[in-house]
Amino acid sequence: MTIERVTSVEVADEELALESTVRPRRLDEFAGQERVKENLAILLDAAKHRSEPVDHVLLYGPPGLGKTTLANIVAAEMGAQIRTTSGPAIERAGDLAAVLTSLGTGDVLFIDEIHRLSHAVEEILYPAMEDFALDVVLGKGPGARTVRLQIERVTVIGATTRVGSITGPLRDRFGVTYRLDYYTQPELERILRRSADLLGVAMSDDAARLVAGRSRGTPRIANRLLKRVRDYAQVRGDGKVTESLAADALGLLEIDARGLDAMDRQLLQAMADHHAGGPVGLATMAATVSEPIETIEDVVEPYLMQIGLLARTQRGRQLTASGWEHLGRTPPPGSTAAAAQPGLFDT
Ligand SMILES: Nc1ncnc2c1ncn2[C@@H]1O[C@H](COP(=O)(O)OP(=O)(O)OP(=O)(O)O)[C@@H](O)[C@H]1O
Ligand SMILES: [Mg+2]
Repeated sequence: MTIERVTSVEVADEELALESTVRPRRLDEFAGQERVKENLAILLDAAKHRSEPVDHVLLYGPPGLGKTTLANIVAAEMGAQIRTTSGPAIERAGDLAAVLTSLGTGDVLFIDEIHRLSHAVEEILYPAMEDFALDVVLGKGPGARTVRLQIERVTVIGATTRVGSITGPLRDRFGVTYRLDYYTQPELERILRRSADLLGVAMSDDAARLVAGRSRGTPRIANRLLKRVRDYAQVRGDGKVTESLAADALGLLEIDARGLDAMDRQLLQAMADHHAGGPVGLATMAATVSEPIETIEDVVEPYLMQIGLLARTQRGRQLTASGWEHLGRTPPPGSTAAAAQPGLFDT
C-alpha cells in the first residue's frame, strides 16, 4: 500500500479544486519571487506599449513554486487566451502544428514539462518560435518538398523542473528564462493568510507561522497543509486554527519542525545507519525509500540540500553536520560530514 505523502508535490484530482480557488490570477496577487515578478512586469509592460506579443518565456524550478500560475498570469495580464499542453502530451509533430495554427496573435501556448518533448516535435517548435512559421513536408520520397506556412505571432511559455535536460537550440529560442526559488518564511505566511481568507478559514498568526515553517518553501505544500490543519481544527477544536491545533495536526501527519516527513527522515536515517553518512549514490538513495530516482533528484534532495541537511559531493550525496544533528546523532569518528550549506530560513 502506498500512503499519499502530504509533502508530495504531485497534485491529486480532488486538490485541483483547491488549487484553482487559491491560485493567484494577477501579478500583484502573486507573493514572493520579487526579482522574477519585476522582470516579468517590465516584459509585459513593454509588450503592451508596443502592442506586441510577449517574448517567449522559459520558467524553471522545483515543483509547486508557481510556474503554471505565472504562465496563466502572463496570459491574463495580456488579455490573451492560453492553451495548456505538456511535453509528453504532444505525441506527433502534427499535434503541435494543429495547436499552433489554432492560436490567435498574442495568445499563449503553455508547454509544461517541456524537457520531455520528442525530437520531432521540438523541430517543429524551432521555426514556430523563431519565425512564426511551420515547415510542412508535402509528399514522400524524392518528390517531397517543404512549404512554409505562417502562423500568428504567439507566445510560447515553457516550464520545467529540469532545465539541464533542455536542448541548447530550444533554450536559445526563449527570449527570457526565469528561475523560481523556494519561498521564504514571510512569503509563505502571506500566501497562507491569503489562502485562509479565500477558503474562509480562521487562523492565528502563530499558526500561520508554524505552518509556513513546515511547508518546504513551497506554496503548493503550504496550501495543502492549511487544508489538513483546517480539517483537524474542525474536528478537534472549534474550527479556528490555533498554533497548538496546527502543531498537533502536523505531528499526526509526522511532519517535523523543518517540514520533513517520514520518508525524508527514513532516507537520512538510512544514510546514517548503513552508509556512515555517505557519500551515497542517487540510485542507492532511491532504492532505500522505494521511490523513483527522478523523485529523489527533482523533489526530495533539492529541499534537503537547500536547508543544508544534505550536500552533493563528487562521489555522491552526503549527510552534513546539520543533517546528523537533525537526526539527533553525531557523525561517526573519521566521517567527513560535509560542511553545512546556508539554510533556507537562516539568512
Ligand atoms: N507566488 C504565489 N503566491 C500564492 N500562491 C502561489 C504562488 N505560487 C504558487 N502558488 C500556489 O501553489 C500552487 C502550485 O503552483 P503551480 O501549480 O503554479 O506550481 P508549478 O511550479 O507549476 O508546479 P509543477 O512543477 O508541479 O507543475 C498553486 O495552486 C497556487 O495556488
Ligand atoms: Mg505546473
